[in-house]
Amino acid sequence: MEKFTIVDHLEDLDLESKYLTHKAKDATSHAYAPYSKFHVGAAVLLEDGTIVVGTNQENAAYPAGMCAERVALYSVSAQFPDKVITKIAVVAKRKGGKEVVPATSCGQCRQVMLEYEQRQEKPIQVVMQSQDHRWVLAPSCESLLPFSFTKASLEHHEKKE
Ligand code: THU
Repeated sequence: MEKFTIVDHLEDLDLESKYLTHKAKDATSHAYAPYSKFHVGAAVLLEDGTIVVGTNQENAAYPAGMCAERVALYSVSAQFPDKVITKIAVVAKRKGGKEVVPATSCGQCRQVMLEYEQRQEKPIQVVMQSQDHRWVLAPSCESLLPFSFTKASLEHHEKKE
């Protein structure tokens, strides 16, 4: 399995990752997060260079809210179902704050990322800032969710019946 790239500064990542991360950072200004005040932006890069962004969308009925990553990925799947996703970057800022703060994708987002990765049969790289403030470039969604439950898990189950 390919390795994680972990660097102290965003500047130390490759140009494409840096650019995508900046797009995600710009998107944080469109987060709707009046409850957590944690503004998250995600930017998804497609194989043809198209970038689709998403931001977290909260709701007074808390569980109805949605993370930035899934807003972006569902939008890609709805608009460009046949295009290959190459990378997703995630950035967070606190309301009124200038600096980005660590945000690593939640388990549900990793689950959704993995499904799209398996659907397209090509890895999706993930860029995010870990809790120790270092930047992580994960080679795939699979690398972020070992021992996962997937479409194949359902199919294997069916065969045994
Ligand atoms: N959130 C995201 O959008 N992405 C992440 O990677 C972590 C969490 C959102 C969900 C919620 O609106 C807020 O951040 C606080 O959890």
